[in-house]
Amino acid sequence: PRPENHVLVIFGATGDLARRKLLPGLFHLAKAGLLPDGFRVVGSAPAAGAPSEAEFREHARQAVAEFGRTPPEGPGWEAFAESLTFGAADPDDVGPLLDAVRAAERAVGGQPRRLFHLAVPPVAFSSVVRMVGASELSDDARVIVEKPFGTDLASARALQAELHAVFDESRVFRIDHFLGKESVDNVLSLRFSNGLFEPIWNRQHISHVQIDVPERIDIQGRARFFEGTGTFRDMIVTHLFQLLGFVAMEPPAVLDADSLRAERDKVFRSLRPIDPAHVVRGQYEGYRAEPGVDPASDTDTFTALRVEIDNWRWAGVPFHLRSGKALAEGRHMVTLSFRQPPLRMFPLAEHGGEAARSNTLAIDFDDPGSITARFLTKEPGPYMRLCTAEMTFDYAGSFSEDHGLEGYERLLLEAMLGDQALFTSSEGIERLWEVSEPLLTNPPPVESYARGSWGPEGIRRLVRPHHWYLPDGR
Ligand code: BG6
Repeated sequence: PRPENHVLVIFGATGDLARRKLLPGLFHLAKAGLLPDGFRVVGSAPAAGAPSEAEFREHARQAVAEFGRTPPEGPGWEAFAESLTFGAADPDDVGPLLDAVRAAERAVGGQPRRLFHLAVPPVAFSSVVRMVGASELSDDARVIVEKPFGTDLASARALQAELHAVFDESRVFRIDHFLGKESVDNVLSLRFSNGLFEPIWNRQHISHVQIDVPERIDIQGRARFFEGTGTFRDMIVTHLFQLLGFVAMEPPAVLDADSLRAERDKVFRSLRPIDPAHVVRGQYEGYRAEPGVDPASDTDTFTALRVEIDNWRWAGVPFHLRSGKALAEGRHMVTLSFRQPPLRMFPLAEHGGEAARSNTLAIDFDDPGSITARFLTKEPGPYMRLCTAEMTFDYAGSFSEDHGLEGYERLLLEAMLGDQALFTSSEGIERLWEVSEPLLTNPPPVESYARGSWGPEGIRRLVRPHHWYLPDGR
C-alpha cells in the first residue's frame, strides 16, 4: 500500500537525527517509489540560527551525501530537494511555520495528512507539543515521538498527559527504530511460522537468553544529550527491552497492531523489577574528560544486567542484556542457548568446557542480518569425538533483490500508513519505567572500562555460570 498524500513537519530539522537518519531515509523512500505522489517536508527549528529554504536544501544534500545510501544527484534528487521547505517556530511565534505548512499543503493540493516528527532532545518535547497544541496545526495530525520517552515513570506519565491533551492515542507514534529493523520483524515469522522453532521456544528447552548490542562508537560529541540520558535510558529501557518483547511474547491472536502491542505489553507486565545487584554500570576511560561532560559524572556509557520474566513460558530463564559505547565491536545480537540432553555420552574434541556443549540460535539483526544455529557434530575420523558446527542463513546472500529498508525508513512509512504495530505503547513504556525504578533510585556506582574492551570486569560475574557469547561465540 502507498500512504495518502502527506505534509511531514520535522521539528529539530537541523539536528543530529534529521541529518543522520531522517533526511537520508526520506530520500531513500522517495527513490524507492514508496512516498505518496503528493509529499512535502517542512523543516522546523527555533528562529535563532534557522536556515533559509535554500540553506535547508543544501543541508539536506550534505546529509544525504554523508549518511545516505545513494548520492544526492540526478533528477531523483532534484525532485526530492524541491519537496523540502522550511518554517521557523518558537513558542511565541509559530507564524513562519504556519505559513510554510499552508504553502506545502497548497502545493500538494486536496487535504494531505499532517505528520509531525519531534526529532528534538527530550528536554524540548513538552514545549514543542504545547506549541503545536496552541496553534491550529494539530487538527487531525499524527505525531512521531522519539525515545527515550521521559526519564522515569513520573516524567513519562507527565509527558503522556501533555501529549494526550493535543493528540489522542491513535495519532501518537512512539518510535523505537530497532523495531523497524528487518530481522526484528523476522523474529515473528521465525517463531510463529516454523514447526522447527515454535515448540522449543520456552523454558523447557531454553536455558538463557542474551540480548547484546555493543557499540564501537563513543558518544561522538553528544555530551549534552548523553549526560542527561546514559546507556540505560538511551539503549536498554528502550531498544533492548523492546527487542526482548519480540523475543519473549506469546503468539498474537491476529497480526494487527493492537494484538502485537498487547502481547509485548504482557511481557513487560511479567518482567520482574530490576534488582540493582544484577546490574553492572560502566563508564569508558576518558569519558569524564570529554568536552561538556561533568568531571565527576556518574553517567553510564555501559550497562549490563540480568532480568527475569515471571510467566509460564519463561520462569527461571535469565535474560542477559548488554549495551555500551566505545566497546570492541558494534553488533546487534540475540542469542538463545538451549538446554543439554539429559545424559552425556560423548567426549568433546575441543576445549571450551561446558559452554561448548550448548546449542545456540543466534540472531544477528544488523542490516542485513543473519541467523546461525550452532550444534555439536562428530569430528571426522576413527574416534567418536564432537566439535561445534554452524548453519547460517544470511539475508544478504539469500535474496536476489534487496527491498530492505532501514529502521527509520520502515517506521516513517508505517507512520504514514497509520499502522502502530511497530511502535511502542504508552502502557508498555510506563511499565518499563516502573520495573526500572529500583535501579534508577539506587544505581550501583559506575565501573571504569578500557576503550575497545567488552566492558567492566564485573560483567562475567553477572552471567555466571554462563558466558557472554560475544566475542568468540560461546
Ligand atoms: C540511538 C541511540 O537510538 O541508537 C544512539 O540514541 C545509538 O546512542 C543508536 O548509537 C544505535 O542505533 P543503530 O541502529 O546504529 O544500532
